[in-house]
Amino acid sequence: MADSAPSPSAAAASSSASAPATTEFTPASPAAAAAASPDPAPGIAVDPRFHHDEDDADSALGDENALSTTSINSTIFEYRNLHGRTYHNFGGGEKAEYWAPNDDTQNEQLDINHHLLSLTLGNKLYLAPLSNPKKVLDIGTGTGIWAIDFADEFPDAAVTGIDLSPIQPSWVPPNCSFELDDASKEWTYPDNTFDYIHIRYMIGSFKDWQSVYREAYRCLKPGGWLEHFECSSSVLCDDGSIPEDSIFSEWKRVFHEAGEKLGQTFEVIDDDRYVGWMKEAGFKDVQSRTFKTPVGSWPADKTMKEIGQFNRLGLEMGIEGFGLYVLTHIMGWSYEEVQVFMAKVRAGLRNKKWHAYCVWGAAWTQKPLE
Ligand SMILES: C[S@@+](CC[C@H](N)C(=O)[O-])C[C@H]1O[C@@H](n2cnc3c(N)ncnc32)[C@H](O)[C@@H]1O
Repeated sequence: MADSAPSPSAAAASSSASAPATTEFTPASPAAAAAASPDPAPGIAVDPRFHHDEDDADSALGDENALSTTSINSTIFEYRNLHGRTYHNFGGGEKAEYWAPNDDTQNEQLDINHHLLSLTLGNKLYLAPLSNPKKVLDIGTGTGIWAIDFADEFPDAAVTGIDLSPIQPSWVPPNCSFELDDASKEWTYPDNTFDYIHIRYMIGSFKDWQSVYREAYRCLKPGGWLEHFECSSSVLCDDGSIPEDSIFSEWKRVFHEAGEKLGQTFEVIDDDRYVGWMKEAGFKDVQSRTFKTPVGSWPADKTMKEIGQFNRLGLEMGIEGFGLYVLTHIMGWSYEEVQVFMAKVRAGLRNKKWHAYCVWGAAWTQKPLE
């Protein structure tokens, strides 16, 4: 993420400064297509019927919260507790330090996010030009929802999801399996194993992204594809509706600092850093796109509106988990300070005058055939 705050009037500039300078893509829908412009970073049209009340915490919020989601059963091993939330057992030393909880609340957010990301890709699970993949690996699989859907779509593929936490369901398609593993270490798979390796939503998870991509390169078959779909911590607008000194600017600044302190950056897609790291790991031609996922019901386009509703629901659900460990343990804030900050972020997410969106980036690349 860029350390600079997204300025309101300069939000469009900010979006191109902090987001990768690549092709902008909005979900495939007739309205979105009609609204498309040659501008490489088109804005999202605002629904003229959308009510501009300051606070969205009324009926609209009720509607959004009414979306039904599935709770995931977790197998509890030695989880770590922090202020009533559970985390994977960091253990210190050489063990991975992943900062988000692994409890039902956070897992539900992951499943909501999966839905809105699939909508964002036009009901697709990937962008790489795959043809009949047989061995597939999903790094940091979370609840395994992507791996399960992918296994359903490709019944002839053996799909493996790995994660630090055993938070995946046990009833899964026969061609899908999960393993507990730390992807920051040398991977246990032999060279040239996989046709496709997928990484999604692992911002702030690794100290050394190049070494992760190097392992991906080693474990891919020649001609196999790596794809990484990742978010930025920027919350921006294109129309100056968000003030320069908003809580989202503070959010961005704090997470920039926390990433520096933790040694695990939250700025992965910003300035196409991940594309550079893939190339340093040996990949050659890397394609990438950026996406805007609106926050709330403000877009005119039906698909964008749905994405916005799910996005706001997921963000509100996930927000405490995004910040609790990072702000207390990494930044040294008190629990009370974190709650005050989170209340301001929630108010920002509900502000109907702000036409906010999050930025996501996808990059995909092929291991050379020889
Ligand atoms: C934000 S979640 C995303 C889950 C899933 N990829 C998705 O898009 O729904 C990040 C996941 O990465 C896992 N993770 C973080 N660091 C990891 C590591 N070093 N090795 C394996 N998994 C890791 C976390 O446990 C968490 O489940």
